[in-house]
Amino acid sequence: MALGFSVWCCALLFLCGLWTRAQDIPPYTEDCRTGTYPPSGPTFKGNVTWYTINLDLPPEERWNKVVNDKKKEIAGLVKLFKDVIQTFDPTGIAIGMVDFQLPFLLDSIPYPFNEEIQGIADASGIPLGEIILYHLLYEMASCTSIIAEDKKGRMFHARNLDFGYFFGWDIKHSAWILNRALKPLLLNIDFQKKKKTVFKGVTFAGFAGVLTGIRPKAFTLSMNARGGPNDELMGILEWFFGVQKPLVGFLMRSVLENATSYKEAKTELEKTKLITPGYFALGGKSGEACVITHDTEKTVDVWELDVKQGMWYLLQTNYDHWLEPFFMDDRTTPAMKCLNRITQKNISFSTLYDVLSTKPVLSKLTTYTSLMSVADGTLETYVRDCPNPCLPW
Ligand SMILES: *[C@@H]1O[C@H](CO)[C@@H](O)[C@H](O)[C@H]1NC(C)=O
Ligand SMILES: *[C@@H]1O[C@H](CO)[C@@H](O)[C@H](O)[C@H]1NC(C)=O
Ligand SMILES: *[C@@H]1O[C@H](CO)[C@@H](O)[C@H](O)[C@H]1NC(C)=O
Repeated sequence: MALGFSVWCCALLFLCGLWTRAQDIPPYTEDCRTGTYPPSGPTFKGNVTWYTINLDLPPEERWNKVVNDKKKEIAGLVKLFKDVIQTFDPTGIAIGMVDFQLPFLLDSIPYPFNEEIQGIADASGIPLGEIILYHLLYEMASCTSIIAEDKKGRMFHARNLDFGYFFGWDIKHSAWILNRALKPLLLNIDFQKKKKTVFKGVTFAGFAGVLTGIRPKAFTLSMNARGGPNDELMGILEWFFGVQKPLVGFLMRSVLENATSYKEAKTELEKTKLITPGYFALGGKSGEACVITHDTEKTVDVWELDVKQGMWYLLQTNYDHWLEPFFMDDRTTPAMKCLNRITQKNISFSTLYDVLSTKPVLSKLTTYTSLMSVADGTLETYVRDCPNPCLPW
């Protein structure tokens, strides 16, 4: 199954690459956008709705309202995922494993996520194995994260979540199938204890983890994938066969829920193992920001903000910061150009949204843009679209 997936993905990426190269590149990139905020126009598909998750409830009950509201959309995406697996494995053995083997893995998922997943399965009426499979999907996000400090020492954290080449291209809508299916599931969540916010995060309905989050007055956190689909599928297979490592969305939630400072969060993120390699972008108060580069076993690099030396922002896409980005997917150079033009004095939600709205930083894969300010405790999330002409990734 893994091999089928990878060969297919590579072939697809190669063909798209040829296609892109064959056309003129210029229409797919543009000069730094300005005045895009507050969001409007064709690259803005709507606000993301807020839900509250009460952490004082038993884990099985926490997601009931979300699942009840989004039952149809969750079932639709799970079915899409199963159809893709079926295409690669018409014998049905793989789907059989999902329904009969995956449920046993619930025991290896730590509390409270095991019970939350059981609750989501119960509330949605979708078999447990398929809900576990659905959680594995979120190991595969790629993205752009920016942490920047302005002249007044205010720290901003912004990100695009780019997601969705795994299921192929929808020719009619000129969009990635998965990307389109994910957008209606997007949610902002306010996680509360005793009716007070502990942290906020962005997630997809039916998924108990978060991939973007803020603990007000303490830290902000986002995750970007490192390595290709092969690393991701290998990691998932390993996990499937019982290698005990945390899913990244759960790890992030644990850190947001239980670490009370930037320092504590950094220590937790540095020492963890991961099922797929990744980058964590972590921001705190003035002077506190870093990108932690991880392989599956350990931290390989910690890149720190250094405002005194003129390094007032950190920009992370899906390539190691000490290497040149892949030439067909260079979002680093254009984003840096825009940030340098904006200057430290003028950095804000508005200018960061401009950067993340500039093609090719914005692409057909971009699902959402989030803006966070740790001092104000604010999180804003916007659903994105990239009308033609736009690069597929
Ligand atoms: C999104 O939210 C903003 C601010 O709350 C509001 O002004 C705007 O009308 C909303 N847009 C849509 C499309 O719902
Ligand atoms: C946070 O820590 C508490 C106490 O150790 C634990 O019960 C809880 O499950 C943790 N939360 C997460 C999300 O891991
Ligand atoms: C920064 O903002 C000021 C006013 O807010 C504006 O006059 C100036 O042109 C901006 N500078 C840049 C480089 O955008």
